[in-house]
Amino acid sequence: MNIVIFGPPGSGKGTQARLLAESFGLIQLSTGDLLREAVAAKTDAGNLASEIMNAGGLVPDETVNAILADRITQKETAMGFIFDGYPRTVQQAKSLDNLLKTKRTSINLVLQLEIGDDVLVNRITGRFTCEACGEGYHDTFKKPKTTGTCDKCGGSHFKRRPDDNELAIQQRLEAYHAATAPIAAFYESSGLVRGVTAENDIELVFKDLKKHVLECAHSASFD
Ligand code: AP5
Repeated sequence: MNIVIFGPPGSGKGTQARLLAESFGLIQLSTGDLLREAVAAKTDAGNLASEIMNAGGLVPDETVNAILADRITQKETAMGFIFDGYPRTVQQAKSLDNLLKTKRTSINLVLQLEIGDDVLVNRITGRFTCEACGEGYHDTFKKPKTTGTCDKCGGSHFKRRPDDNELAIQQRLEAYHAATAPIAAFYESSGLVRGVTAENDIELVFKDLKKHVLECAHSASFD
């Protein structure tokens, strides 16, 4: 099964994609994470993306499409993916359809996280992640059980993202409304979209998303 999860910055895509990947044995593919890896490795794509990301803009479609296509191997295709933060434009959605077609598979479900812009700034500015395992936390909504220690791996170093500041967040929201929200209409024509309110707490959002994934899994068989 292949799932797209999309929503505005801070809506919980990464948090929920991680939980769904663990529950259903899917591979989480986050273009945000892949681009941050490219930036850290100082590849050509990373050097191009760095400034755009820090300012809250969208990296050009051809760069992101190429990074994603490189990452998808035949072996992993058999397990199914959850695409987190990709596609982000209608052009990327079309490119993903074409790529999956070459692997004899397709998107089966599109999960849309619905949330008001006013909630998002607080979520993003409070976010931090474990440097060792990438587990995500929040100053208010999801603190580590023991302060300074990652619940998952016991790591003690955490980091914050350079684009998690108010100016870049406003740019990211504008980019979302202008370029990403229209992908809902693209997928709606195939009846794949299921909306979930993302303003509830993490466990409740996960329960709602899981229901849609189970319904999708029961309504079709996947190779
Ligand atoms: P990306 O990394 O994808 O960032 P984003 O879309 O801005 O989304 P975020 O990672 O900020 O938020 P999220 O929805 O994953 O929320 P999270 O789960 O972390 O992209 C970064 C940049 O890369 C882009 O701006 C762009 O430049 C570039 N890029 C990436 N993909 C691209 C593409 N396809 N095309 C072009 N450019 C691309 O949650 C946020 C916080 O809230 C966390 O602290 C979490 O603990 C907390 N939280 C989560 N859910 C809840 C809840 N229900 N209640 C309370 N708190 C919650």
